[in-house]
Amino acid sequence: MTEHRHDPCEQAVHIITREHLNLWRMILLLERLQQDIAEEAQAPDEVLINAILDYFEHFSERVQSGPNEILLFQCLRTRAPDGMAVLDELEQDYLTAHEALQGLRALLHDSLDDWPARRGHVIHAMSRFTQTLRRHVQLEEQVLIPQARALLNESDWAQIAQAKDQYDDPLFGERVREEFKELRHRIINMAPEHVGGLGIEHPRRLAPPPPPEALLEVKGLVTAYGRIEVLHEVDLTICRGEIVSLVGANGAGKSTLLMTLSGLQPVDRGGLVYAGADLTRIPAHQRVAMGIVQVPEGRQVFRDLSVHDNLRLGAFTRKGGVEVSEDLEQVYNRFPILRQKRDQLAGMLSGGQQQMLALGRALMARPRLLLLDEPSMGLAPLIVEEIFDIIRELNGEGITVFLVEQNASQALAISDRAYVLEAGRVVLEGAGRDLLEDDKVKAAYLGI
Ligand SMILES: Nc1ncnc2c1ncn2[C@@H]1O[C@H](COP(=O)(O)OP(=O)(O)OP(=O)(O)O)[C@@H](O)[C@H]1O
Ligand SMILES: [Mg+2]
Repeated sequence: MTEHRHDPCEQAVHIITREHLNLWRMILLLERLQQDIAEEAQAPDEVLINAILDYFEHFSERVQSGPNEILLFQCLRTRAPDGMAVLDELEQDYLTAHEALQGLRALLHDSLDDWPARRGHVIHAMSRFTQTLRRHVQLEEQVLIPQARALLNESDWAQIAQAKDQYDDPLFGERVREEFKELRHRIINMAPEHVGGLGIEHPRRLAPPPPPEALLEVKGLVTAYGRIEVLHEVDLTICRGEIVSLVGANGAGKSTLLMTLSGLQPVDRGGLVYAGADLTRIPAHQRVAMGIVQVPEGRQVFRDLSVHDNLRLGAFTRKGGVEVSEDLEQVYNRFPILRQKRDQLAGMLSGGQQQMLALGRALMARPRLLLLDEPSMGLAPLIVEEIFDIIRELNGEGITVFLVEQNASQALAISDRAYVLEAGRVVLEGAGRDLLEDDKVKAAYLGI
């Protein structure tokens, strides 16, 4: 792993912060469900709530299995021989967590027999539970981490940062992160959509979704290099607000399709309609101005220009001025590492940082439809997760995303819909989560 190697402290804190972010997501989810229970006469969803409790239980079990194996705690004990109250408190929390969890599970289960007679009890218990969790995570964030920053030296941090590569570190090890990710996926698949899940087993919604509205329609698209036809009558639709992914083997024509959409490759036959306008004769730079912005394969930043100049070039279709500076500021806020390196040559950045720069540059053009060509290619797993998180975040802010990925399982997991391209033809399409379960897709692209 080469990312952020320059500062092991920041790297370790970053890992911890990411775990916390996931914990916060789970806490917020539980609170939303608690609110649902309070507002609706409907019985709580025991399976879903138990799945969330599994997440916290797994966490506390991992920690209990060996608090001494968690390097961060170990180092802190060494550096603070007289003891640290916050450590004692946190460890105590882990011990009582198990009991609290079992109590909540039992109460929930029993209360379902005569629901809603004990609804008040359930809400009360859930709210006590989430409050304790909040306090615990805040304690780690506001007390433990600052103290650790003050007490630990560089070699401690280096050790902690490295622990994530050791398979078995109970908090940061590769295997544990995978386990947590699986648990999260399970929860996301079960959680109703109005609380941010996919809601597979829970079609109940608070409001009916708006009817899908096409942002981009590709009809019978044929693209050729010279006389060699690469895309054969491709049909696909990307609706406003969606993340749509395109999966396919090497050479299937994925990049060709993206370049045809962005105008870098001419259309031979067929139609491209974007926001109601015929795109086929519109040149690439004008498509950028219309909001169709591509992040090309292999990132392709301008290696000999500074980070700052790369970003400014992203706004080339726009008039300069205040808005551009504001957007630059936003990009720097989103990617603090880019601010830190703003005057360095882009070629000196690591792969992950270059990908962030490529994304940042695309954002400078204010995209409505972001075309991403294998953004996770060649990046370390932690950075891949971060990239996928960013994609989801951008989508949450209203940007429609068309994502080409070799990393099919992660792409499908975050996609609303997906297409499978084989030798220039669309052979399969469906909801991202359905394709994840599809036997053909599993065999060909997920290595299952
Ligand atoms: N500039 C070009 N001139 C001629 N043929 C090309 C050109 N670019 C790509 N091709 C061919 O077009 C086909 C599709 O290539 P494309 O790069 O679109 O595939 P891809 O799905 O993006 O593959 P990968 O997963 O390797 O990125 C391949 O057979 C490739 O060799
Ligand atoms: Mg490609």
